[in-house]
Amino acid sequence: MIKIRVPATSANLGPGFDCLGLALDVWNEISFEPANKLIYQVTGEGAEKLNKGTKNLLTKAYALVYEVCGKPMSGVKIYADNKILMSSGLGSSAAAIVSGLFGANEILGNLLNENEILKLATDMEGHPDNVAPALLGGLVVSVMAREEIITKRYEIPDITLVIVKPIVDWPTRMARAVLPKSVSRADAIHNIGRAVLVVDALRGGDLDLLQKVMDDRIHQPYRLKHISGGMAAYKTAKQFGAAALSGAGPSIINFVIPENAERARKEIAQVFHERGIKTKDVVTKPSTRGTHRI
Ligand code: HSE
Repeated sequence: MIKIRVPATSANLGPGFDCLGLALDVWNEISFEPANKLIYQVTGEGAEKLNKGTKNLLTKAYALVYEVCGKPMSGVKIYADNKILMSSGLGSSAAAIVSGLFGANEILGNLLNENEILKLATDMEGHPDNVAPALLGGLVVSVMAREEIITKRYEIPDITLVIVKPIVDWPTRMARAVLPKSVSRADAIHNIGRAVLVVDALRGGDLDLLQKVMDDRIHQPYRLKHISGGMAAYKTAKQFGAAALSGAGPSIINFVIPENAERARKEIAQVFHERGIKTKDVVTKPSTRGTHRI
């Protein structure tokens, strides 16, 4: 039997749209054991939605490795205990893809290397910014080149992260559909320098710098106005420290000093509650580790 852990991730981190992502200390645990057919069972987050047969991102990714390696797939029982909130902007689909690929590759004796796994994961997800930190851990800058995904991974100090998810219907499909097809030169310039400075601020644990530069003009303004309470919650979070839409949203991620975590969590959630919207939240920290066997 093989057992692995895969972390949640927060992508974009403000201005780093589709290229920055951070692994978080929130984990799904997945075991793979021999069986006479494909069996898939989930407990924890999303169990109701996921326990509906064997066709899902994880099993598709698992089967893809066998196909790419030219190996016949044998029966397997895949059991996932999920802690990563789904439909939240915390990389639950990236985690499913990476765990399927990683698990199958381990069972086959690591026929694929890390770059090959990352390329398959990015092809499935469409962009590398969640799958790269899910696989590698830490803060990852990733760009898609012709045949490969070029990544640079950084370990960053512990920072307290407050994440509040409003329970609203916000499918990723819609989160991408509301974005403009092109951006102005001024907005591109606004983001490019800030994305570089976000990486520097995170590497140095410099929360003051992070707060000054975690501003985005190419996805957040378009998305926040469609998320009920989103803009107000984002503004509340900014009073406590650097803030961003986590991935495509709807969660807000807030980088705070530990003493402010509880107040930030309560006050951001309150903004949604006042509008009759329920929330889930998690207070966590970055993870330097990516997907690994346990
Ligand atoms: N970079 C992606 C986006 C992350 O913002 O759409 C979410 O999948």
